[in-house]
Amino acid sequence: MSWDERFSEDYDVWSARMTADVPFYVELACEAQGPLVELAVGTGRVAIPVARATGQRVVGIDSSPTMLALARTAVAEAGVDVDLREGDMRDFTVDEPAALIYCPYRALLHLPTWADRRRTFERVAASLRPGGRFAWNVIAFDHQYAAQHEGVQQTEPVPHRVRYSVGDNRIDLVRDDGATSSLWWATKNEWLGLIDVAGLEVEALYGGFAREPFTPDSREYVFVARRLP
Ligand SMILES: C[S@@+](CC[C@H](N)C(=O)[O-])C[C@H]1O[C@@H](n2cnc3c(N)ncnc32)[C@H](O)[C@@H]1O
Repeated sequence: MSWDERFSEDYDVWSARMTADVPFYVELACEAQGPLVELAVGTGRVAIPVARATGQRVVGIDSSPTMLALARTAVAEAGVDVDLREGDMRDFTVDEPAALIYCPYRALLHLPTWADRRRTFERVAASLRPGGRFAWNVIAFDHQYAAQHEGVQQTEPVPHRVRYSVGDNRIDLVRDDGATSSLWWATKNEWLGLIDVAGLEVEALYGGFAREPFTPDSREYVFVARRLP
């Protein structure tokens, strides 16, 4: 179980500090000439501002009924057009090829294996228009951060500990009540391999949402890939 439904209860608290990504994805959406799809849409944190800024429908896919219920309420309150669909990003389909598919806030790391990600990337490639873009962001594993935080009680944003299973490249976020959400980190070469096997090409790799260059010291991969025209 990579997404523990109990994490939905206080997702707004967990995600409150993540705001820098929204203008980045909004800008990409404004550049897209055609349908927009968000994978792992969650509560609509990004999809709602994207729909508002573009005036376009956003198709939002997520496997969590609880997150989708929260998203439905937020979408109705915002009065925007977000088509929320329960589904797994490993086998999603779209009604018409997308100009932009995006997957914010490290959600691809909830997929446990390389094969899960390959399936997802293949679905993305099959769901994009020629020249369409796929954008996502994920952490770069930081061994120094891991060494400092392994097992340490943390109070913010909610009481929890972080556990690292290095041999399985897995990070477990363990709330004090035992609820556990897992993330599997991947290297730059793994991401480049996924882009390659799916028949996409790299348009840009940034080290942050201000489109700063990716360097060996970057701690976030911010990828923009595209389907070959
Ligand atoms: C960290 S939240 C990100 C939500 C949203 N993208 C955001 O930026 O706020 C991770 C989301 O991934 C979803 N998720 C995990 N595995 C999934 C899968 N296989 N298919 C679709 N959604 C998935 C979870 O249900 C959860 O809503």
